[in-house]
Amino acid sequence: GVAKPVIVAIDGPSGTGKSSTSKAVAAQLGLSYLDTGAQYRAITWWMVTNGIDTADPSAIAAAAAKPDILSGTEPTAPTITVDGVDVSGPIREQDVTSKVSAVSAVPEVRARITDLQRAIAASAVTGIVVEGRDIGTTVLPDADLKIFLTASPEARAARRSGELKGADLHTTREALIKRDAADSSRKTSPLAKADDAVEVDTTDLTLQQVIECVVTLVEEKRAGK
Ligand code: DC
Repeated sequence: GVAKPVIVAIDGPSGTGKSSTSKAVAAQLGLSYLDTGAQYRAITWWMVTNGIDTADPSAIAAAAAKPDILSGTEPTAPTITVDGVDVSGPIREQDVTSKVSAVSAVPEVRARITDLQRAIAASAVTGIVVEGRDIGTTVLPDADLKIFLTASPEARAARRSGELKGADLHTTREALIKRDAADSSRKTSPLAKADDAVEVDTTDLTLQQVIECVVTLVEEKRAGK
């Protein structure tokens, strides 16, 4: 018969290899892929571009329903558009990165983006790997498998500064710690490990090892172990 779609939630702070792992696992297993951080970045990019004061939660809340955010879920070529404009590049810029925690802390923003995430997950035919901060706790509490990736702050900063060309390691480390603290301490669905999540410390693992570990966990779930 036709296998039931498998829903995999992968959460954790930045620099733990969430995106690389999630994309590779989805590609290997023929599943869709959703980068929920990209959605929060996209709504932040729209706020910045439209002159909304990102220090004013009520201004953000009032505008939260306006942008049309569309995510492409092909793991080897994920896309994201806002009002039809491809924003894959601009959402990674420093200005957006420094403001995304404030924007994503606003409950109206989270409600809007969470609705989008649930609709995308529900329409995935074979299943989906959804990566973020609150997927296992809030967005998809009934996920078939929940993974929580961790790594030491040093390892996370080193990975991030490798990604951001020319970025200084110390500055990256400080910015990353600040963003994780903000994401973990906000009132509405903070970054947190679900009680039933499998925690994987990636500090001393290669990306390939993390991918294999998660693929094995998904296959065991599918086999009903
Ligand atoms: O994964 P990322 O660094 O692209 O995420 C950007 C920000 O979006 C992160 O600092 C917090 C927010 N975020 C969130 O609040 N909830 C999610 N599920 C995913 C990301």
